[in-house]
Amino acid sequence: MPKAATLVIENDPATIRRTVLAARAAGRRVGFVPTMGALHAGHVSLVKAAADCDDVVVSIFVNPTQFGPGEDFDRYPRSLDADCRLLAEAGVRWVYAPPTEALYPPGDATRVVVDGPSRRWEGEHRPHHFQGVATVVCKLFSMVPADAAFFGAKDWQQAVVVRRMVRDLAIPIDVVVCPTVREPDGLALSSRNVYLSSNDRVRAVALSEGLASARSCWQQGGTAAEATAALAAPLARQAIDVDYAVVVDPDSLEPHPGDARSLPAIALVAGRVGPTRLIDNMLLS
Ligand code: PAJ
Repeated sequence: MPKAATLVIENDPATIRRTVLAARAAGRRVGFVPTMGALHAGHVSLVKAAADCDDVVVSIFVNPTQFGPGEDFDRYPRSLDADCRLLAEAGVRWVYAPPTEALYPPGDATRVVVDGPSRRWEGEHRPHHFQGVATVVCKLFSMVPADAAFFGAKDWQQAVVVRRMVRDLAIPIDVVVCPTVREPDGLALSSRNVYLSSNDRVRAVALSEGLASARSCWQQGGTAAEATAALAAPLARQAIDVDYAVVVDPDSLEPHPGDARSLPAIALVAGRVGPTRLIDNMLLS
């Protein structure tokens, strides 16, 4: 991706769509990175992963339908100017920052439900979350008809849900999943890390510690149950209020069948560190 001369901020769905289609008609490959803003190096890594595209579009939209009642929609960090500076620096061509009415017009009545992979884990703890994610991503794919879309492995279940939606609805876009970017001490970068007090910031490392220890247990021949216990230990030591800490099949997200070590495995964790809910995961195999 050549460094773009200027970053263009677009708010209108018809214009961004026309612009992307025109670029593709001119033979350019267009990459798309959907975000909710409050950008950090994890988001920038997705832009870099899209660097084999000729042009990159990043959307910034804090999607109300993926937040439950009592969740942090109102206080979710919003920093459009700083985000755009970061994206201009990273060579992004277009930022699509639509108003709410562009995504949810008056009388909006349609939702996308991806049943199977949405059911467990995040789906159990945030009942309408993936319906909100699938709905907004489906709409964004229609407004930004790019060649490829880039998602982070940080939100593993979300990536599985998006892939399944794209397949089931035959949406013509390649979904690329990119590795999780971490702080030097292992904490996965997240827009929500700004909520952590300094004490909770120290405790939060228990998530990535637990995952690393589950992985080394698995790699030394441990069973799924032993890896799960290794994952849970640091969480208990830091008194993290755990929603789930499990070893599952990376595609079906169903619990891993015990010691069937030839099958791939991933550990998923979610919990509250003080008032802040964090999620993380790590492939074990
Ligand atoms: P957001 O949380 O802003 O994340 C945007 C993208 O960045 C997602 O694909 C997420 O997995 C990725 N990401 C976040 N932290 C990362 C990290 N530490 N390393 C690598 N990638 C990381 O996810 C959403 O927004 C929304 O649900 C969205 C898909 C935009 C729909 O509203």
